[in-house]
Amino acid sequence: MNRAKVAVLISGSGTNMGALLYAAKQPDCPYEIVLVASNNPDAEGLSLAQGEGIATFAQSHKGVDRAAFDAIMQQQIEKAGATHVALAGYMRILSDAFVEQWDGRMLNIHPSLLPKYTGLHTHQRALDAGDKVAGCSVHLVTPELDAGPVLGQTEVAIRPDDTAETLGARVKLAEHQLYPRVLSAYVSRDKNPEWLVAQVRERAMTQPEADEISSHGMPCFGIIGGKKFAYVSVDHHGDGKTAILVKISGAEEQAMLIDSDPDRYYRPAYFGDGWIGIRLDLGDTDWDHIADWLAKSWRAVAPKKLTKLIDVAGEF
Ligand code: GRF
Repeated sequence: MNRAKVAVLISGSGTNMGALLYAAKQPDCPYEIVLVASNNPDAEGLSLAQGEGIATFAQSHKGVDRAAFDAIMQQQIEKAGATHVALAGYMRILSDAFVEQWDGRMLNIHPSLLPKYTGLHTHQRALDAGDKVAGCSVHLVTPELDAGPVLGQTEVAIRPDDTAETLGARVKLAEHQLYPRVLSAYVSRDKNPEWLVAQVRERAMTQPEADEISSHGMPCFGIIGGKKFAYVSVDHHGDGKTAILVKISGAEEQAMLIDSDPDRYYRPAYFGDGWIGIRLDLGDTDWDHIADWLAKSWRAVAPKKLTKLIDVAGEF
């Protein structure tokens, strides 16, 4: 299995990092930890990682400006060959350049049910507000603090006698379960048929008068009351593959495409020469390219009156 390579950044006890690391010991875990880095050379988590034979890096941020410090971290992360970054109690505001570098590939765990209680003292704030439930969230990191898309959450019931400490301890238990699961799901989402179908749907449904139906159990997109322009093949006859089928000009184009990249393109059984199958589960799908294919395929089946309208609209 080709596992995602994760660098974990910590500042303190590193128990979430420990949870990520031990989860990664399962042979079917889709990620591995390649580096544990810290801005605090005394972070307890560093010795846990070292004891498990994981590469570590620690340097105090004191006296180093933010951009320069993040550049040092970036260099270490690159050196370790990381494909993703997991923040786990990393108590540093990140520079925009660093966040941009890891756009869509950096996750964080936060001890509240976001969007509630960004920032610090989340448990006390939940208690002060008289909340009945607290919890934790894993989210993608964007430039605004704790505001990126939430990928997963766990609720934790608040008891009448809770203090910030007792509540925090239970939320930590929930964090340790949540983070490895969400990270695993996230790094392997581009092999997950449901996620792949959702990507196609998002793009197919932007075509004019698009409609989704199911054809022989396949998600299928067509023009309302008209012809179909895309099918998604999911595990067809148990082949384990996920692919999109779109219209092409004919046998010549089909042969040319298959010749150009035989792992990605194929002749879809029963569809004939007018269609091409494009694998979506190879892990390197260019979704803009798929959007172009969908637009082209739509155009190939759309009635003249619709394409004319689009052409006219395009001129303004
Ligand atoms: C956790 O509560 C996490 O949600 C927050 O910082 C804390 C880190 O704890 N971002 P640990 O270092 O993983 O024990």
